[in-house]
Amino acid sequence: MPFEIRLRTEEEVEPYRLAADTAFGEMPSSNPASLQGYKDRHETDRDFAAFDGNLIVGTAGAYSTRMTVPGGATIPTAAVTDVTVQPTHRRRGIGAMMMREQLQQVRERGEPAAALWASESIIYGRWGYGPAMQHHAVSIDTRHSRFDNQREASGNVRFVDVEQALEIFPTVWDRAMSTWPGFMTRKAALWEREIRGIDQMKRPGMSRPGDDTPFFILYEEDGSPGGYAFYRTAYPSDPERRGIAIKEFVAVTEAAHAALWRFCFDIDLVWQVSCQSVPVDDQLWWMLADPRRLNRTPNDAIWLRIVDPPAALSARRYALPGKLVIEIVDQFCPWAGGRFELDSDEDGAVCRPTSQQPDLAMGPAEIAAAYLGGARFTTMARAARIEERSEGALKKADIMFSTQKAPWCPLEF
Ligand SMILES: CC(C)(COP(=O)(O)OP(=O)(O)OC[C@H]1O[C@@H](n2cnc3c(N)ncnc32)[C@H](O)[C@@H]1OP(=O)(O)O)[C@@H](O)C(=O)NCCC(=O)NCCS
Repeated sequence: MPFEIRLRTEEEVEPYRLAADTAFGEMPSSNPASLQGYKDRHETDRDFAAFDGNLIVGTAGAYSTRMTVPGGATIPTAAVTDVTVQPTHRRRGIGAMMMREQLQQVRERGEPAAALWASESIIYGRWGYGPAMQHHAVSIDTRHSRFDNQREASGNVRFVDVEQALEIFPTVWDRAMSTWPGFMTRKAALWEREIRGIDQMKRPGMSRPGDDTPFFILYEEDGSPGGYAFYRTAYPSDPERRGIAIKEFVAVTEAAHAALWRFCFDIDLVWQVSCQSVPVDDQLWWMLADPRRLNRTPNDAIWLRIVDPPAALSARRYALPGKLVIEIVDQFCPWAGGRFELDSDEDGAVCRPTSQQPDLAMGPAEIAAAYLGGARFTTMARAARIEERSEGALKKADIMFSTQKAPWCPLEF
């Protein structure tokens, strides 16, 4: 029986949410605030559903965001979320059908790219998504957390409450937008979910009511917020492992970065500090007197899918002036493939379709992986993912696409 793929209606929000949660092995919370939060976050005209008769058997939504690209401009980006197919209907092509419809809509809305977090890294490459940034989960025994060069911080760290966090943290986030390529806007409803923790699950080792209440800390200098973090107490009743688990740490100045880490490491009765996401080139490792003590676990972070190569490649800036012809062989969305000439100089860059012979040939996942500066063409060519068609093109492309900072964004969606 054929399945119908269409946008859900306002009235279908509850079965849509139920379908998404069920596929993730959860049941939606019965708390009315949780449903309201879901409605506030979701955009009805972006939530694709797959129907088997009247039954929703697949979901694929997106939030409208903007993403910073190298050079500091932002591009409209679809933050893809809730991609699910019911366990009863998997591996029948429904996921692929929804992905195709969604990418078509992304393009029609004038968004050059879509972004997502992959629950499994096996899933999205086939649909042209590439791992565009990596990040590290870090942890350290606080007895080994001394800094080599203590930076003098003239500001200070203080606790703020939920309402203050909701008011002030977004201002730091806005400043962070220009700090990292790949940083994405976070809408109010996503701040609400993050800060109020409506949908948060309890952490291991936390059983007492209230143990999952986060603490919010803010670094200010001359009244200006420079960074924040929020964390929960981890393993509160285990003296060996008692520590803090930092959910989010964002600092836009070096002073804020140093002061917030120092604060976290120096809390009494805290033996372990962990943080679920720091940039791969974060300076913390270099600040520690005994850096090997910092456990770093790398992982893929946001995956990107470029649906409009000329728009995406014209929007960013390049480290080197030059020309490059790139062929993108896009089997999943042939309308997003072709040969494109990239022409970059000090004033900016222009990318347009061309019939010239390509210098490099690759798939959509590879250009997406390299786009924010988070992956090198040479490395992917060594993995047989990119073909160099003119000598020296890989080296040139590596330099052109390189960025001073590794791309990073801790936004969960
Ligand atoms: C991921 C998911 C949406 C895929 O839906 P689906 O309808 O089964 O996907 P399709 O049938 O269109 O699969 C297309 C191809 O991808 C493969 N594939 C899809 N998901 C896969 C997975 N999780 N593991 C391995 N292969 C997978 C299929 O085998 C198929 O391969 P083929 O083209 O070689 O036959 C579904 O498995 C799911 O709901 N998973 C649980 C929730 C989840 O993790 N969602 C992703 C959130 S980021």
